[in-house]
Amino acid sequence: MRTAEELELDPGHPGPVFQAIADAIVRDITRGRLAPGARLPGTRRLARALSVHRNTVDAAYQELLTQGWLEAHPSRGTFVAGDLPEAVLLPQPEVEGGAVVEGPAPGALAFSDGAPDPRLMPDRALARAFRRALCAPGFRAGSDYGDARGSAGLRAALSAHLAVSRGVVADPGRILVTRGSQMALFLAARAALAPGDLVAVEEPGYPLAWEAFRAAGAVVRGFPIDAGGLDAAALAQALDTGLRVRAVYVTPHHQYPTTVTMGAARRLQLLELAQRHGLMIIEDDYDHDYRFEGRPVLPLAARAPLDQPLVYVGSLSKLLAPGIRVGYAVAPPALLGRMATVRAAIDRQGDAPLENALAELIRDGELGRHARKARRVYRARRDLLLAGLAAELGARVAVDAPAGGLALWVRAQGGVSAEDWAARAQAAGLSLLPGARFVLEAPAPEAFRLGYAALDEAQIARAVARLAASWPGAPC
Ligand SMILES: Cc1ncc(COP(=O)(O)O)c(C=O)c1O
Repeated sequence: MRTAEELELDPGHPGPVFQAIADAIVRDITRGRLAPGARLPGTRRLARALSVHRNTVDAAYQELLTQGWLEAHPSRGTFVAGDLPEAVLLPQPEVEGGAVVEGPAPGALAFSDGAPDPRLMPDRALARAFRRALCAPGFRAGSDYGDARGSAGLRAALSAHLAVSRGVVADPGRILVTRGSQMALFLAARAALAPGDLVAVEEPGYPLAWEAFRAAGAVVRGFPIDAGGLDAAALAQALDTGLRVRAVYVTPHHQYPTTVTMGAARRLQLLELAQRHGLMIIEDDYDHDYRFEGRPVLPLAARAPLDQPLVYVGSLSKLLAPGIRVGYAVAPPALLGRMATVRAAIDRQGDAPLENALAELIRDGELGRHARKARRVYRARRDLLLAGLAAELGARVAVDAPAGGLALWVRAQGGVSAEDWAARAQAAGLSLLPGARFVLEAPAPEAFRLGYAALDEAQIARAVARLAASWPGAPC
C-alpha cells in the first residue's frame, strides 16, 4: 500500500485542482491503497509533494470530511474514516484503458477498441443539465410516455448539429434517438432486412454490427478493404456475377478496425454501385468528431442522391463515454417509421431526461467545446503512442498514422503472430485486440487495433514498454 503523498492526480481532470486531489484520494480508498484508519499527511506536506498551495489541499480534505470519507481527530491529524461500508472497499477490477478482461491483475493496462477517456467527460455539466431536465415542468407534468423516436428536443438539436457539422440534412422527423448506435444498427436490420438477405460488410470489420444483422436473420459476407476502405471493385465484381446483396455496411470515416479513410473516388464508386444494384447503404459514422488532420470528410449521407436508401448511424459513446447510452439513426421516413415501431416493441422509448440534458449540451455549445478539447488531448496521445512505437519497437511493427479516430492499426512485421504477442502481453499485464477478433472467414491479419484514447500519457508509456517487452521474437 502506498502513502497518500504518492497520490496520482488525473492530469486530464476537468475540475479544479482541489477536486482532482479529493477524487484521487477517494480512488485510492476504494481501490484499497489507503486503508480505513490510515493517516493522511499534513496539508503542508502533501501540498509540497504535489506542488500546490496548502489551501488547495485543505479544500480537498474539507470536501472529503464533509462527504464522510475522512475524519479529523483534533491534534492527531486527518484519517481515512474507519466506518466505510465493505462494499466500497472491495478491490475494484482495475483495467486502465477501458477493455474488459476477466480477472485483471492490479495495474493491468488495456488498449481498448477505441473507447474515449471517461476522465475527460464533461460530467459536471451533464449532471447539471440532467438535473435541470429532471426538474423541468414539462417532464414533471408529462405523466405519459413519449415518442418512440426519442425526445423532440434532442432530435431537433441533432438535426441542426448534423447539418452544420457534417452536411447531413435531416429534419427531426427523420431522426431516431437510440440507446447507442448498436441499437440503431439492430433496428435498421430488423426494419430493412428479411431472413436470408445478404449484407456486404468490410473484412476485417466490426463484429457487433454483424451480430445485429444476423439477429435479423441476414447473412453477412465479408469484402476486403485496402488503403481506401471497402474494395468497391471486389463488391462490383461479385454483384456483376449475380450475387444478390441487399445492403452494404461501411465505416468510411475511419474504417473499423484499420482506421483508413474512404477517399472521394471510392465513395462515388460505392454510391454508384448502390444505385445500380439497388443496395441499401448502412453508414456507421461512429467517431466523426475525431479528425486530427484536415477537415472531417463528409459522410456518404451528405452526398448520396435523394432516392438512395441509406441509414446513417451515429453515437455519443466516443464523445462522452460508452456507458452513456445515446446514439441515433437518420433514415428515409418509411424506414424510420418501421424502426420506431420495432423500438417501441423492445424499449418503448428512450431516456427522456438524459436525452433532454444532452440536447441542452448540444444547443449551448458545451458538447462542441468538449469535442475540441478532447480532440487536442487525443491527438497528443496518438502522437505520443506513434513516437513510443517507433522508439521502442522500430521495424518490428508497421503503422500508418491515421488522420483521426481513437485507435491505431499496428501490423506485426517479420512473420510474428499477433495472437502469440497478445497472449504474452496479457501475461505481462497488457490487454491487446489482435486481428483475429475482426474477421469472418479471411485469414486473421497479424495486426492489433490499439485504442489509446483512454490511456493518459504515463499509461501509454507503460503500455508501450510492456508491448515491447512481450514481443515474441521472429519465428525461426
Ligand atoms: C464501429 C463502431 N460502431 C459503433 C460503435 C458505438 O457503439 P455504441 O454507440 O452502441 O456505444 C462503436 C464503438 O466501439 C464502434 O466501434
